[in-house]
Parts: sequence; structure tokens; C-alpha cells
Amino acid sequence: MIDPIKDQIKAQILAPSPENIAQVAKALLQDEVVGMPTETVYGLAGNARSPIALARIFSTKERPTFDPLIIHVSTQVQSLEHLAQLNLIDLQKISTSQRGILETLIREFWPGPLTLILPKAQGVPDLATSGLPTVGVRMPAHPVAQALIDAAGCPLAAPSANRFGRISPTTAQAVMSELGDRIHWILDGGSCSVGVESTIIGLKPDSDEIQVLRPGGLAPEQLERALGKSIDLNSTTNSHGLSSLIQAPGMLESHYAPSQPLVLLPKVVQELNSYDLEELKKQLLIIPPDAPIGALYLGGDPQLLSQKLGELLKRVILGRSLSFKGDLSEAAQNLFQEMRNLEALQTPIILAEPCFHQTGLGFAIADRLKRASAPKALHKS
Ligand code: TXA
Ligand code: MG
Repeated sequence: MIDPIKDQIKAQILAPSPENIAQVAKALLQDEVVGMPTETVYGLAGNARSPIALARIFSTKERPTFDPLIIHVSTQVQSLEHLAQLNLIDLQKISTSQRGILETLIREFWPGPLTLILPKAQGVPDLATSGLPTVGVRMPAHPVAQALIDAAGCPLAAPSANRFGRISPTTAQAVMSELGDRIHWILDGGSCSVGVESTIIGLKPDSDEIQVLRPGGLAPEQLERALGKSIDLNSTTNSHGLSSLIQAPGMLESHYAPSQPLVLLPKVVQELNSYDLEELKKQLLIIPPDAPIGALYLGGDPQLLSQKLGELLKRVILGRSLSFKGDLSEAAQNLFQEMRNLEALQTPIILAEPCFHQTGLGFAIADRLKRASAPKALHKS
């Protein structure tokens, strides 16, 4: 496999011209893996039909093979029937009423940030699904991803293009810093417009109830509107919906994490008082008093918030805000990039405001912040 020292790989960031897309598509058909923009986050794409390409995706990311991949399909796919014809899903295992729900979701939200977990067909190698009987399928909305899938003429497996457990990339430069020494090509599609991964939905077994397995770029109320009923968001198991299958439960809790510890504040800064911070102040005692501390705010003016937090903690704060005007979609769009910006400041710790919003992309932001702040010892071994 790729030996970065021996092979001296340095990825090239390519403008998405038709020639470059054709060149990258050719590499995909030779089992290479490449950086691909999508509207959610950048993916590390490989031919979903090729076990060699799939193995490369896992090894390039250093991802454990028990964590399944999402298959990205062409906009030419119009229906479940079509997915079955492509030998990706097994229609026999989907009841008529389930089909109705799934077709509604496809009609309403594809192309877009929605992944559906469906019974798998034989055309999907077991490696892609980690041996599960189901497969995650999504149709990306980004024109460069669509062009690449069509040029390659095969579905593309693509996890986020970061090293395992790290912050997902939302620019071509971020892919370069994550995997630039391991892949040859990164197609540049600009900054991702959604900024968090797709919402993953499955059907509960033998039921017409849908289950949100990972909150993401599609807001729950949009789903509720399309389905005409409320969704039980608390049925989200862990972001992977796989707890029973993973040998050591909790192994995937830490995710999307910067290299230094990220600690969630008990409240948003505007509502904080000195009493709320007693515990945190004790934890900060091990950090030299003159070392600046990073802070990530959901919304508002970072200077004002840093001033307040700095006074409460008696520390110098280097703060970044996800959305000056407090807009949740904008906050989601900036989330991973701002985590990267704070990481680059190399403060010993990053404090982050918690997200309690249950509307729009609030649920997805809360999930990613929770995972970024989870202890990360387990999967690093
Ligand atoms: O927005 C996205 O979904 C991005 C872009 C690149 O498309 N992709 C992405 O892939 O987030 P990744 O590999 O970082 O996350 C894939 C997750 C798995 O960790 C697992 O939680 C879920 O999708 N998944 C995939 N197949 C599954 C299955 N058969 N059953 C349950 N969960 C599955
Ligand atoms: Mg990921």
C-alpha cells in the first residue's frame, strides 16, 4: 500500500475542469482514491464496486473496517427501482409501505444531504458495509461530485476525507492538510455549503417508522414536513447507529476532534456567571496562567464574548464565532473550519459553547460538538 515516505506523495489540488474531472475519473477506475468535494464535507472517494479501492479508503484514513462507508450515486438515479437495477439494494427486503416513505424522501431530498440505510444487494462488496446486511446510499448535490460520479460511471464510496477521528474537511486545503501525503488528487469545489455531514436515516426493522441514525445537514423539521409526522429524535442511538455491532461500545464516541482537548462550557457565554465556572477554573489550574485559551462561540461578536469569558476566567481568550448574526445554518457551515482555525492557534485547550437548539441544524451542531469533546483515548491505540 501507499508508503508516504518512500513514495513521497504530495497531493495536487485540481480545478474542476472537464479535463481534470476526466483524469481523476480515470484514476478512480484504476482503484486510486481521491479527494472529492460534496455539499456537506469533502469525501475520500473510491470505486464502490472495487474491494481494492475500498481497502485503500480504509487504510488511507486509518479507519477501522467495522465502520461502514456511504455509497454516492449519480443524479441519473430516480428511484429505489433504479438502485436495485444497479445491484446496490435489495428491493425484496423493503415492504410496499416502506417503499412509499423512502420514495418520498428520495423525491424530496435527493440530491442533497440525506443518506438512506437500505437492504444491500450483492453488487456492493462486504467491505463497503463492514459486513452489514444494509448499505448507506446518498446522492450528493455538489456539481463536481455529480460530474465525477458520471465520468467514472460507477458509484463512489466516500467517507469524509480526514484521518480517522479528526475534523472533517470543508475545503480542498483542509483535505490537503489531512491526507496530502497519502493521495495524489484533490478536486477543488470551494467551501462546502452545508458544512456538516449528511443526515443518516434508517427504517426500524419491520416498521414504517424512520430512525435518525446521525443528525446532519438536513434539518429534522424538513423531514417532518415531508413525511407529515413528527420524528423521534431521541431514538438516535449513537451517531453510528451501530452500538450493538461494535465490539467495544463507545469506541467511536470521539470524532471530529482537534488535536488539543475541546471542553464544552456549561452554558453559552452570555448566560455564564462566575459560579458556573468554578469546576472549569479548577481544571484550568494545570495550564500556565499566561497561556491563551481558545474559545468557539455559536454566534455573536467574538471580541465581546472573549472579553466576558476572559474576565470570568481571568485568562486571555482567543475566540472565534461560528456566525456573527447567530444563524444556525451559517454556524454549521463554519463549524469544522473554525475548529481547524482554533487548532492552528495551538492553545493548550479549546472551550466551546454548548448548542441546545433543537431546530434547524442545531441538533447536528450539538452532536458534532459533543463528539469533538469526548475523551479520545480509545481509538488512538
Ligand atoms: O455527508 C456525508 O455523509 C459525507 C460525505 C463525504 O458524503 N460522508 C460521511 O461519511 O460522512 P463517513 O464515512 O464519515 O460516515 C459514514 C457513516 C458511518 O460511520 C456510519 O455511521 C454510517 O455512515 N453508515 C454507513 N453505512 C451504514 C449502515 N449500513 N448502517 C448504519 N450506518 C451506516
Ligand atoms: Mg467522517
